Amino acid sequence: MSELALKGGPPAVPEGMIKPWPWITEEDKQAIRQALEEATPWRYPFPQVTALEKEWAEFVGMKYCLATNSGTSALHLAVAAAQIGPGDEVLVPAFTFLASASCVLHSNGIPIFVDIDPRTCCIDPRKIEEQITDRTKAIVAVDIHGLPADYEEIHALARKHGLLVIEDGAQAHGAEYKGRPVGALGDLAGCSLNGSKNLSALGEGGLFTTNEQRHFELASRVRMFGEVVRPGEPRQYNAYIMGWNYRTDNLQAAFARSQLKRLPEMTAARVRNCNYLTEHLREMPGLEPPYVPPDRTHSYFFYVLRVKPERAGVDLPPAAFRDALIKVLRAEGVPVQRWQTVPVPGQSLFQFRDGYGKGCPWSCPYARPGIEYHPEDYPQAQRLIEEFLCLGHSGGGLGPPNGLDLMERYVAAFHKALGEHLDEVIKLAREEG
Ligand SMILES: Cc1ncc(COP(=O)(O)O)c(C=O)c1O
Repeated sequence: MSELALKGGPPAVPEGMIKPWPWITEEDKQAIRQALEEATPWRYPFPQVTALEKEWAEFVGMKYCLATNSGTSALHLAVAAAQIGPGDEVLVPAFTFLASASCVLHSNGIPIFVDIDPRTCCIDPRKIEEQITDRTKAIVAVDIHGLPADYEEIHALARKHGLLVIEDGAQAHGAEYKGRPVGALGDLAGCSLNGSKNLSALGEGGLFTTNEQRHFELASRVRMFGEVVRPGEPRQYNAYIMGWNYRTDNLQAAFARSQLKRLPEMTAARVRNCNYLTEHLREMPGLEPPYVPPDRTHSYFFYVLRVKPERAGVDLPPAAFRDALIKVLRAEGVPVQRWQTVPVPGQSLFQFRDGYGKGCPWSCPYARPGIEYHPEDYPQAQRLIEEFLCLGHSGGGLGPPNGLDLMERYVAAFHKALGEHLDEVIKLAREEG
């Protein structure tokens, strides 16, 4: 039995073994070099951007795609194209990244939060109806960690109440729900191409998709300052509606196109790695691996374990035990981390409700008066945050070229911490808790 690395023993994961994400190949570099040649003079749209839009639309099976400069802007295009405006309410899961909700605020809409399903960590369809009011216009369903939400139930509720479904697929490219790919699961969708994501533009980027021409046309205007710009026709410099500059560029698009060619292969490698983790960590005392319902696939942007000390006979709050485990595992070379620290409605923006100054948009005369956010109204989101331990993002080693040799080392580190040295983890948690 070797000493914990925290106490000076040899780390379970040798230094330099984890390869960062995105995985950049010679093909990717060649694609960038070629795009660089075409990058001057500046023009709109750039050829690589148009090609990326065509290829992503084909990949997911949607009619229209617009590439943008972030996942947040792609989501805002969805909100704006859905004509969500002042006072309109949009349902959003209480556990997600801020942008799933702030995209609503960007159009002066009001996010209303819904608790999550404890097994999938996605919005809980059983809790949606109780939040619907006469102002509700849409539901943002987030494919959290890489797992698609419960779209059949969500669409049924949306149809019943005349709502649109906006898919936030920022974390889940490559996953499928009942055979349909992420990016095609809502009426409108936004995905991120941020450098940490399963499909990336290296730096920043996003992809908006829809099947509706009217949504596409509105989103095209919003992306380009509110103007209508037709390829081959002179620009009029006339804004029809409120718009932003959400354009992206040739180099980012070329990188994303090159990565897209390998997305199925890269997703399969992630799934192989994460299945190995689940197979070997399942029996570990105090850990619950991710749940994947049989009707969908997971693309593992995050591999999330829930820490359940009571199942290991340990009488400690989950967060204290989790924090000690993170310390021990990180010393072993396993880049485990926390993610969200409060449910989104617990963030200061929602506590103080002052988005643009003067309390806007909550103080807007179109908004329902008296909206407040209480994090304790979302117990499943709160509980997840206390138990949450994950691998993933750019440095987590889940994606290729990392393979089972690295996963084996991760599993060895978990065994070391929770098998051989459980008493020391408990002691550390008590000391620091
Ligand atoms: C669930 C979710 N939605 C939206 C976004 C926003 O994407 P971007 O960072 O590309 O703006 C992220 C990014 O982390 C995300 O995780």
